[in-house]
Amino acid sequence: MVSVGNRIKGRAGADNRRLIVVSNRSPYHLESRGGRIRMTRNVSGMVTGLEPVLKSTSGMWIAWGSAPKSFTRDIYRIPPDNPTFDLKLINLDPDEIKHFYLGFSNSTLWPLAHNFLGRTTFSEKGWEYYEGVNRKFAKAVAEEVHSTDLIWVNDYHLALLPQMLRELKVSAKIGFFWHIPFPPLDLFRTLPWRIEFLKGLLACDLIGFHCSSYVKNFLHAAEDILMKDVSFSKGLVRNKREVRISAFPMGIDYSGIQKLIREPQTIKDAERIRGELGGQHIILGVDRLDYSKGIPERLHAVERFLTENPSYIGKLTFLQISAPSRIEIPEYHKMRQEVEHAVGRINGYFARGAWSPIKYFFRALPFEELVTYYLAADVCLVTPLRDGMNLIAKEYVATREPEKGMLVLSEFAGAAEELKEAIIVNPHSIPSMTAGIKKALEMNPQERRRRMTQMRKRLRRRTVRKWGRAFLDKLIQDKDQKVTAKRKESK
Ligand code: F6P
Repeated sequence: MVSVGNRIKGRAGADNRRLIVVSNRSPYHLESRGGRIRMTRNVSGMVTGLEPVLKSTSGMWIAWGSAPKSFTRDIYRIPPDNPTFDLKLINLDPDEIKHFYLGFSNSTLWPLAHNFLGRTTFSEKGWEYYEGVNRKFAKAVAEEVHSTDLIWVNDYHLALLPQMLRELKVSAKIGFFWHIPFPPLDLFRTLPWRIEFLKGLLACDLIGFHCSSYVKNFLHAAEDILMKDVSFSKGLVRNKREVRISAFPMGIDYSGIQKLIREPQTIKDAERIRGELGGQHIILGVDRLDYSKGIPERLHAVERFLTENPSYIGKLTFLQISAPSRIEIPEYHKMRQEVEHAVGRINGYFARGAWSPIKYFFRALPFEELVTYYLAADVCLVTPLRDGMNLIAKEYVATREPEKGMLVLSEFAGAAEELKEAIIVNPHSIPSMTAGIKKALEMNPQERRRRMTQMRKRLRRRTVRKWGRAFLDKLIQDKDQKVTAKRKESK
């Protein structure tokens, strides 16, 4: 097995590989405060998953972003508290943001991958910008890369990047991780640029998905759309290049979470939050505000639960924390209005004295604060209509003591392939979710402990570090067994 070397600066040696992570979303947002740079961590499953990997291997992360005007550099050392890797920023102009990020990436690929064909728009201009920005990334990566480096491209924004890097004569190994669902063939076939899209991706050496069902969908699409252009041996073969395609379900930083929840301040804050929320039973929902997350459906389920179980009126509080996201896209703006309207309507109907059933935050919380909310909640509702993985579900289970928590989980979240002991519900069915809430609140302690303990065991074993290591090991495997370097991270 192969390790990625511990390299801080300069080019990688022959036996010491440098990792270059590439993604659209940058791990940190940079702004100027009092003449100094302030860095804020971005909220995203992809950042949560990749940062610990790059922290333990060092290297470079290349992503969309810009530094404040007074700063002229485009490479920064991060994370700010304990810098271990470089961040190279690629600036996107307003048209690129409009047509590449808000347009093709998030109005075409995102809804299509999440099975929302009705919300999908196909625009030639969007595709043109998608190609243009992928080329811009390709140039920025090619300027940095050496043939001994490993390139790890992330997410649906950059599917053409592998092919473009090959055109720029980049011979380094390229791995690609697709962080969202891969749609079934019938949906993927609607994409007018499906052939170019697949060819772009298939120029890499390894493609990873969270779930085996996404792997199947991808293979089905490649076989059906590219036909004789591909064949199969150990992996998929195109242009004499073997591309491995596998499932790597992303894990969490289990031990980091255990440390956090044992801190006296975290415990104190969780108790304070329970008091402030003012219910005997606390239910929590945490998402980016996105139509794929099923937030209005979840609110309706809470409403129906209170109607059918009036003994909970005055005793149950549901806190929904929604992080603002892609708000310039009309679909997202409408979703925000729909959610806020539902919160107002449900509270208006059920409120008694100082109590109201729903508390709603429209902001992103730093991870440490989010953990205090996990700790305060008796039940976590993770009920997306479709979700690549969903790390919130995993983080919540890792946070709660077995006898004190319960997870209600959508069968359409990737996490449901692993967290089988959660209460699995169909988010398209309000009765299914209502029954799930009741079961979670009223489950006997032994059953609760049994389920939570099993899930926690699995999460403890399959950490995010192992996820990253498994992906990189597979990327280097076979063709390059000789490369060995000291692993900085401990097992
Ligand atoms: O977690 C899935 C994901 O697509 C990330 O890959 C992405 O960065 C994140 O959602 C947040 O979306 P955005 O980058 O558009 O804010």
